[in-house]
Amino acid sequence: MRTWRKHVLGMTGLLAAAALALTGCADSQEKRIVRIGHNQSTNHPSHIGLTAFQEFINAELGDKYVVEVYPSELLGSQTDMVQLTQTGAIDFCIASNSILETFSENYGIFNLPYLFSSQEAYHASMDDEALTEMIFGSTKDAGFTTVTWLDAGTRNFYTINKPIHSPSDLKGLKIRVQQSPTNIEMMRLLGGSATPMSFGEVYTSLQSGIIDGAENNELALRDNGHGDICKYYSYDMHQMIPDLLIGNNAFLEDLTEKEREIFEEGFDILNETQREAWVDGVEDSIHNAINNQGVEFIYPDTKPFQDAVLPLHESVLSDLPAIQPVYDMIQEYNAQYAATDAEQGET
Ligand code: GCU
Repeated sequence: MRTWRKHVLGMTGLLAAAALALTGCADSQEKRIVRIGHNQSTNHPSHIGLTAFQEFINAELGDKYVVEVYPSELLGSQTDMVQLTQTGAIDFCIASNSILETFSENYGIFNLPYLFSSQEAYHASMDDEALTEMIFGSTKDAGFTTVTWLDAGTRNFYTINKPIHSPSDLKGLKIRVQQSPTNIEMMRLLGGSATPMSFGEVYTSLQSGIIDGAENNELALRDNGHGDICKYYSYDMHQMIPDLLIGNNAFLEDLTEKEREIFEEGFDILNETQREAWVDGVEDSIHNAINNQGVEFIYPDTKPFQDAVLPLHESVLSDLPAIQPVYDMIQEYNAQYAATDAEQGET
């Protein structure tokens, strides 16, 4: 979608949300409408998880609340939706951790390339509230708080027509990245040309040749049609960046203790349902990419990619010494799961 159209749609989304906020209680006999926005299609695991959350809250608290879910950037890009959540025009949205780095630099830690050395270490770290609380609470002053995390798999490069086997293959290519300083710096270190834009703009930018490729998990091939255009998907596995459900602070604080408990249970249901659907979603997307979209999967040696970007860890930690303890806890999980793998290898 062209940038100007996207802006108009973004504005439409904002206006729609403002109008919705004003008419919130009018036709619902004082029921409070709880609005949640996200940027994925209705096939996506996050939408499936939110539907389970919606059903649970409507069943448990339906006399007072009605949950409404707005998919597919209907309320604007993730950045627009975070702003709507900040002001309370909507109550929740799903945002990539990447986007949140511009609202609190602490979130930058989860954007570091090759931060987690395995999927197990990633999941264990994100499930550990003692580890995440310092990051998730750091946007309190900005008006919102992260209430749960969602799996967004591993990010890998994919291109229209140039297979990526090593960082040198990225040279001269325009690669879309998320709008985050860490991602832009990561691309610089890898030698590609970073082109930041919102997720909804990627398809037409690929189609019109404005960019040569992008980087994302496998679901983008299926749900966003990127596999129709990009024929090489290269498992360099540079990042595991979580998606986060953020909630407006005033809304969360206004809940009674009992309601808050039920919402917390709902967040757990969302998290669990999304993670189960994630496994099937990835499998189906790979199957679809190979059989229907003609995508070739490449498994490069990841070491040269890691060597190129590891200096980012040091520079981010020296700029933000407060997040060092969080980084150290993640390293402990990395070591723990590396040891478990080694033991399993021996038996
Ligand atoms: C993934 C992630 C989204 C994000 C998107 C992107 O799909 O789940 O939250 O917006 O990547 O690259 O922008």
